[in-house]
Amino acid sequence: KKVVLAYSGGLDTSVIVPWLRENYGCEVVCFTANVGQGIKELEGLEEKAKASGACQLVVKDLQEEFVRDFIFPCLRAGAIFERKYLLGTSMARPVIAKAMVDVAKEVGADAVSHGCTGKGNDQVRFELTFFALNPELNVVAPWREWDIQGREDAIEYAKKHNVPVPVTKKSIYSRDRNLWHLSHEGDILEDPANEPKKDMYMMSVDPEDAPNKPEYIEIGIVSGLPVSVNGKELSPASLLAELNEIGGRHGIGRIDMVENRLVGMKSRGVYETPGGTILFAAARELESLTLDRETMQVKDSIALKYAELVYAGRWFDPLRESMDAFMEKITETTTGSVTLKLYKGSVSVTGRKSPYSLYREDISSFESGHIYNQADAAGFIKLYGLPMRVRAMLEKGI
Ligand code: ARG
Ligand code: SIN
Repeated sequence: KKVVLAYSGGLDTSVIVPWLRENYGCEVVCFTANVGQGIKELEGLEEKAKASGACQLVVKDLQEEFVRDFIFPCLRAGAIFERKYLLGTSMARPVIAKAMVDVAKEVGADAVSHGCTGKGNDQVRFELTFFALNPELNVVAPWREWDIQGREDAIEYAKKHNVPVPVTKKSIYSRDRNLWHLSHEGDILEDPANEPKKDMYMMSVDPEDAPNKPEYIEIGIVSGLPVSVNGKELSPASLLAELNEIGGRHGIGRIDMVENRLVGMKSRGVYETPGGTILFAAARELESLTLDRETMQVKDSIALKYAELVYAGRWFDPLRESMDAFMEKITETTTGSVTLKLYKGSVSVTGRKSPYSLYREDISSFESGHIYNQADAAGFIKLYGLPMRVRAMLEKGI
């Protein structure tokens, strides 16, 4: 019997290794996905995994796949959860879980395991992906089974099983980092009235400390997908990395919110999404040129549902996939560029251009024009307002 464990090298997952061996009598293959959490997180992982009792560590670089196949579709859809959250953790879980299903096949494992607590969204996202991609895999979620309570318990368990306790000091916050975002939960944030401490943030400077001079950038977009920064074409992952750098130094993309977890509770989270915030502003702006009124309204209404599905871990649900086909079609002509001004935490649009623009100066201009005849408006308004006139006539007995 063999199990593939989603492994980070932190205390929790290090304890899960001996726990799985003791309680399930199986070999443990650790799996770590590189989704842009930073190279420091990946250093010395193999030795650590083996020291915990794993038979093997598999590392896969999923960065390009993550951005191209998971992040960019959400961006194209305009998916935002509960008015604010850009879904950074929600999008990462299905790409990691998908890779775990592949690894399970490669190493001949019949089970998969993760270190998510029983109180959160992440367990759902992992397990729905396992269900969708290989319904025969057994799933082990130690946090829902064991009686290890806190950090002290975990350290004691590790010592008892001769597993070295990771030297990396555990932060007081529960954090999740990838190429798109960094989330902070827990500790003082658990009281929604508390302002986050200045030194908590890691991807962005405090807007108050950002440069006093604004920076202009131009984002190139083809069919709803970003392709270039300031005219330089970049791969999806390197484009995002570059924008994180630029956005981070201007304090862009901090979100502080109370959200409704899928399991029913409210939770407070603070997110840093510098590059993503820039990309959302750019993609949305270009649509103001390329989509007509009704198309934009329908797209926005579907985006709401799309975001809800992604948050709830239903990435591989045919409903989300079908919505994605709709998004792909509707953004076919969303091609062009948007110029943005970054200044002390704000992103403002200063210009937009598209070869498929539906905006026509010769129609919209105050100056003149012959396509639009102002006299036509009189008849239009009469018919458009006919139902209102009829009602008023009825009320007044006319
Ligand atoms: N609340 C966010 C979400 O559900 C972030 C979760 C962060 N996960 C974590 N394991 N620290 O997407
Ligand atoms: C966890 O409980 O594992 C993190 C928080 C979440 O999944 O929402």
